[in-house]
Amino acid sequence: MTKTLLILAGDGIGPEVAAEAEKVLNWLRDNRGLDVAIEHDLVGGISIDTHGVPLTEAALDKARAADAILLGAVGGPKWAGQPYDKRPEAGLLGVRKALDLFANLRPALCFPALADASSLKREIVEGLDLLFVRELVGGVYFGEPRGITDLGNGERRGINTQVYTTSEIHRVARVAFELARKRGNKVHSSEKHNVMESGLLWKEEVQKLHDAEYADVQLEHILADNCAMQLVRAPKQFDVILTDNLFGDLLSDAAAMLTGSLGMLPSASLGAKDPVTGKQPAMYEPIHGSAPDIAGKGIANPCATILSVAMALRFSFDQGALADKLEQAVSQTLSDGVRTGDIWVEGCQKVGTSGMGDAVLERLAALG
Ligand code: IPM
Ligand code: MN
Repeated sequence: MTKTLLILAGDGIGPEVAAEAEKVLNWLRDNRGLDVAIEHDLVGGISIDTHGVPLTEAALDKARAADAILLGAVGGPKWAGQPYDKRPEAGLLGVRKALDLFANLRPALCFPALADASSLKREIVEGLDLLFVRELVGGVYFGEPRGITDLGNGERRGINTQVYTTSEIHRVARVAFELARKRGNKVHSSEKHNVMESGLLWKEEVQKLHDAEYADVQLEHILADNCAMQLVRAPKQFDVILTDNLFGDLLSDAAAMLTGSLGMLPSASLGAKDPVTGKQPAMYEPIHGSAPDIAGKGIANPCATILSVAMALRFSFDQGALADKLEQAVSQTLSDGVRTGDIWVEGCQKVGTSGMGDAVLERLAALG
């Protein structure tokens, strides 16, 4: 049966990198029998400009109906300063929340050819392969109460609420343990239980679930600040890092730089599988942002988005073999020295966004 993929290209470099992903998908459809129908809609600033809201009900309906969503990026200086519900980011958070995409998978993989592009020494990052499982629809991003109030005496008060419940912790921890079993069998759960009750609950509930159902998986608890430090000191000690929405946002950006560039990292955001239909809501996106400073120049690195397509092939389209090949094609492109500006080094061939997409496709075709 034909699967549908909704592309929400968004703002800034979003449309440029999404176009390369679409090129890859079309190629796979025409040459490898991938049975996919692609749709498009708006999210973020472009949706605000067109419809007055960062995400329309119609776009959300399409997102709900699709087998998978591919998102480019949202945001930019043009829409800053608006209330939070009228900002581009609200469109992205709206999709995450509406589809209950609670498990955000962010692999940080150091391609051998890029070890020297990292800001860390080659021996520290070479062979790095870790996976973040970030809780995505709870915590301080969505907790109530929130807001800014005027205290009347020239003072204002800003408030956000960090909150997690047992079931929210268990369902995301379960994803981390399951994935760890297929990898290095080790989970580091990260929070700040030394200062936060929500962190203490997180730690206790992760431990409980582990003891009851995943005792075969190695589990360690690590304070989020220490985790940040260990990530830049000795990142290869990690296999799966399980953490909350906010810490996951911070730590995964830090880990991205270990791999050479933020432009290399894909992600998958998954919801719960429907017990009847088996359908699992899923959105795939590069973890980099809209990069307004380089938007429209055709120089953005499309690899993170192309690798997000690979994740979609694996998790939503049951095409693990094609996913492997696409990842191999990206790796080959890099080791052949074809690079966008963000990962370019002396002696390599510098290409733009579409040049990079073409180079990957060429290698993909050669892989047969
Ligand atoms: C990310 C982004 C988003 C987040 C923003 C754009 C809302 O930084 O996906 O990491 O904070 O989750
Ligand atoms: Mn982020």
